[in-house]
Amino acid sequence: MVLEAGGAAAQVSGTDPADVAWSFSHLDPAVAETAYDTLGAIRRGCPVARSGELDGYVLVTGYAEIREAARASDRFSAYVDGLGAAAVVTEMREAVAPLFETDTDHHHQWRRQLQTFFTPEAAAAQAQYVRAVCREVLQELIPHGAADLVGAYARQVPPVVIGRVLGLAELERAWLSEHVRALYSAETLTEAQQAGRTYADFLLGQIHQRRTHPTGDLLSVMVNAQVDGRNADDDELVKMTMLMVAAGHLTTADACATAILHLLDDPALQQQVSADSIALEAFVEELVRYDPAVAATGRTVMTDTQLGGVPLSCGDRLLLAWGSANRDERVFDDGDVFDIERDRGAPQHLGWGAGEHRCLGRHLARVELRVMLIELLRALPGLRLQPGAAVRRTFGVIRGVAGLPVRWEHR
Ligand code: HEM
Repeated sequence: MVLEAGGAAAQVSGTDPADVAWSFSHLDPAVAETAYDTLGAIRRGCPVARSGELDGYVLVTGYAEIREAARASDRFSAYVDGLGAAAVVTEMREAVAPLFETDTDHHHQWRRQLQTFFTPEAAAAQAQYVRAVCREVLQELIPHGAADLVGAYARQVPPVVIGRVLGLAELERAWLSEHVRALYSAETLTEAQQAGRTYADFLLGQIHQRRTHPTGDLLSVMVNAQVDGRNADDDELVKMTMLMVAAGHLTTADACATAILHLLDDPALQQQVSADSIALEAFVEELVRYDPAVAATGRTVMTDTQLGGVPLSCGDRLLLAWGSANRDERVFDDGDVFDIERDRGAPQHLGWGAGEHRCLGRHLARVELRVMLIELLRALPGLRLQPGAAVRRTFGVIRGVAGLPVRWEHR
């Protein structure tokens, strides 16, 4: 049997879900527009499915199955070759990034040492700075009357904020933003390699400084943390720092762009979130359920086991499609409907992940998104898409919007 789901052909052979092979690659740009239709069809037929794409992996789309894989870190390791979040890092592929790619006790020790930088209080303390950065960026934009808000706004603010959280000085934050942008907008492999090397060298310089002169900032704590009796080495630290910047920057920038797109589609909602901070909070949380910026990350199976009744072998790679879990009809009523009035007593959505790797930066992300959105709506009245603009969605490890050409009223 062949199912056509949302434009992507999904091959189904046999009736046992364990035998089902689906041709789905989250890295194929063609899946982006209809990703959740396709994933929904796969989930309803087979919440744990084998895909022949990307050298073979197991696509997990059901809520219960994704939550189990994320929680059982003794069976499913966060270190995964070529499939998950580390794919956004261009350097130091061989190193294992502390925190992000480690498990169980080793991971707990790291998480405990970094926790203090990511509490709700620490996040709230960044709000004023985030607001100041937003206002600076918007002041420059206002007179133009039109812009692509992805490049001109959504991607401008988060790299500076994560730079501040790491403990970089003002000029270094600007340097970080510029080079991270160069890295992720590189058009050729050579350009990407060059940008990646320059960026890695910059981070290495910061790491060495903090090894000799620790200051108590996040990066100093990362550099000097003793876990299992040793400090992380240079390669581990560069990879971990790149992942920390990516986690803080790419996610929030894409979430902000997706949020703006939703608001442009619904002027009444725009009014509501502009006028009511509770509605704004609910909007951001519903956005992370409905269309999470972290779309899919990976795990490696550590021992022969089962997931959702499907036998798995040691070494199998899993892809956890977080956004699909959040629309699972076995858990959420009308999961495909965006609804900021959704019952808060409903099961916890998985847009921030689950288990021990659940997003460490979620309080910061919430603060950043709320401030970025409210400042934008206040500064750019009459915000609307440019006539005839075609907006292209993206999908992969991270989900967002390729560009948002808009106009606004100005004198
Ligand atoms: C809307 C924005 C964001 C979303 C949707 C999001 C989502 C996620 C998800 C789903 C995970 C778990 C990945 C997995 O288990 O494989 C994760 C982990 C993580 N996130 Fe976020 N994130 C966001 C913003 C941020 C920000 C602003 C930071 C700040 C640095 C951050 C820091 C982290 C870290 C450090 C981890 C790894 C935690 C660990 O391995 O213990 N995230 N995030």
